[in-house]
Amino acid sequence: MVGDALTRPKDLLDFTFYGKREVEDLLALAETLKRERYRGEDLKGKVLALLFEKPSLRTRTTLEVAMLHLGGHAVYLDQKQVGIGEREPVRDIAKNLERFVEGIAARVYRHETVEELARHARIPVINALSDRAHPLQALADLLTLKEAFGGWEGLEVAWVGDGNNVLNSLLEVAPLVGLRVRVATPRGYEPDPALVQKAGALFTHSPQEAALGAHALYTDVWTSMGQEAERERRLQDFNGFQVNGELLRLLRPEGIFLHCLPAHYGEETTEEAVHGPRSRVFDQAENRLHTAKAVLLRLLS
Ligand code: CP
Ligand code: NVA
Repeated sequence: MVGDALTRPKDLLDFTFYGKREVEDLLALAETLKRERYRGEDLKGKVLALLFEKPSLRTRTTLEVAMLHLGGHAVYLDQKQVGIGEREPVRDIAKNLERFVEGIAARVYRHETVEELARHARIPVINALSDRAHPLQALADLLTLKEAFGGWEGLEVAWVGDGNNVLNSLLEVAPLVGLRVRVATPRGYEPDPALVQKAGALFTHSPQEAALGAHALYTDVWTSMGQEAERERRLQDFNGFQVNGELLRLLRPEGIFLHCLPAHYGEETTEEAVHGPRSRVFDQAENRLHTAKAVLLRLLS
């Protein structure tokens, strides 16, 4: 077993029940696991159910590979088979899965679905992305920032784009580690003001103001999964919010570019940004694996 557990929340739905120590501990564990390219038997015989209403490359693969590297196994259950809330109510799914597996990672449309799973399942439930939060992503973002700058205290991260699930999780975790966030969204796409306030984040409608002198520029798609019907409208509303070479030049010299992926090229970003010298996008993707391992060790072992 690697590392000692501190207080252990049962679930990771968002960072509501996580304090500074839990987050720093998870990140320290992830760094160790990455350095050691850790493989072990810690979760031998344990099974994680991946209950996914939406598609995924990174989240599904990293959770499956992490379980494999830790000696356990993952079972992928997609919406076509399970029919969450259609073929069966969420509560019944929870009360079945807890009899079969040791943990559930759920990717859902409505955040209430992961909350309901967690309420009814006696096993840990991990939010693998909901409309409100993407905590696994935020942990990988923190690891990537630490690798680039040696720590988080006083770093300025500019978010340019939609006030969405990925931003919400970044805003939740930022004050716990001393990370400063500046947010620029178009009018009508602002994040939850309570989260902005709690993070002490700077809010603006100007991408340039957010980016100027920042350590990192972070963006995500303008149209998230489930919002496809709004795409045309969003393309218009987000005009001027693209993160490209021009905007990246406003960062401090050592400034980096982050994107959780997948990217919609020509919309929120460009090939030049994702594949250019400032990009840490693929380190960020790799770090999904190491941080997922840390979460699984903490919650399932
Ligand atoms: N960043 C992320 O969560 O990617 P996937 O949607 O491919 O899992
Ligand atoms: N905001 C995006 C993130 C994808 C990883 C979505 O929810 O589709």
